[in-house]
Amino acid sequence: MKILVTGGAGYIGSHTCIELQQNGYDVAVIDNLSNSSEESLKRVAKITGKEVPFYKVDILDKEEMDKVFTKEKPDAVIHFAGLKAVGESVEKPYEYYNNNIAGTLCLIDVMRKHNVKNIIFSSSATIYGDPAIIPITEECPKGVCTNPYGWTKWMLEQILTDIQKADPEWNVVLLRYFNPIGAHESGTIGENPNGIPNNLMPYVTQVAVGKLKELGIFGNDYDTPDGTGVRDFIHVVDLAKGHVKALAKIKDKSGLNIYNLGTGVGYSVLDVVKNFEEATGVKVPYVIKPRRAGDIATCYSDASKAKRELGWVAEKGIKEMCADSWRWQKNNPNGFEN
Ligand code: NAD
Ligand code: UFG
Repeated sequence: MKILVTGGAGYIGSHTCIELQQNGYDVAVIDNLSNSSEESLKRVAKITGKEVPFYKVDILDKEEMDKVFTKEKPDAVIHFAGLKAVGESVEKPYEYYNNNIAGTLCLIDVMRKHNVKNIIFSSSATIYGDPAIIPITEECPKGVCTNPYGWTKWMLEQILTDIQKADPEWNVVLLRYFNPIGAHESGTIGENPNGIPNNLMPYVTQVAVGKLKELGIFGNDYDTPDGTGVRDFIHVVDLAKGHVKALAKIKDKSGLNIYNLGTGVGYSVLDVVKNFEEATGVKVPYVIKPRRAGDIATCYSDASKAKRELGWVAEKGIKEMCADSWRWQKNNPNGFEN
């Protein structure tokens, strides 16, 4: 079975290519490299011993995608390609709606032209907004997003749901990721943000490696055990494995399926700092700053549906996530550039 991975050169995509290849799937990647480097796929090939056919193609470009579909003849698509920076999406809503929504519509059009009606889509816990229930189940109320990025995820879930409803030959799996961190245990691929990181773990590792002075913790007056925000951090390799498990639903031709991918456990920002220091022996100086606009106190999943229906559970703990993030950062202080 061949899987076309859009956005496959990126953080989650590259880790997923490894799991796919190691589980006997053929892969091909399209990515416009707007937030990634082809080097990640070379490193994937080193890990798996299998080349990754790569096409530098934008998902907005139907003609070029058409050529890839004609050549590669994929059976299913795992669709990671998209812009994902929450703050940037507030500044550049047009770019986010165009890239993520128009891009996905182009992809869907090319897929149906080639009669490829199987897709796994990267959604996000952000669609639950400030969650009405904790732990968050798939049925938790949603659709009140706080930024354009979140809206693109919610709108794309709706679009894919409607397409599957209108044509039951489609098999659609919507995966709602919680907070992916960590890196492949080889330390050769990992998260490689442009500029100053927005997300917690890349900021922590860049402080640890000496590129940034100290971590700013955004608020210690939330209604949480230690006052700092609580999130469901999940190892990116566990997340990648979730995609391989989700392919079972595509093979079963089971229509529309939706899963949270998280650990079901919440750790606070201070817990992350403490576990990072314990796992690596490296100190992470921090200061408490005001709350960041748009942040919520607590967000963690009920991931029991994925366990029940896919036989998937996240296996790696917080210490392993920290140690693996650190190994990647320490070995590659400038990401894929050196
Ligand atoms: P990433 O930026 O590392 O990967 C996304 C990839 O898509 C990049 O390689 C980028 O170059 C590519 N891309 C973007 N626009 C494209 C276009 N128009 N055409 C072709 N390629 C394009 O991000 P990631 O963390 O690996 O995220 C993958 C997916 O998971 C995204 O859809 C993201 O929104 C979603 N997601 C991520 C998180 C997270 O915290 N990392 C959480 C929830 C959901
Ligand atoms: N935080 C800090 N300092 C930092 C960065 C983050 O204290 O420098 C705190 C935040 O305030 C928050 C926690 O660390 O309490 C996690 O923040 P992240 O930015 O790492 O992650 P978010 O939970 O805000 O959002 C991330 C992605 C979203 C995705 C969501 C899914 O950025 O795209 O996870 O749960 F939707």
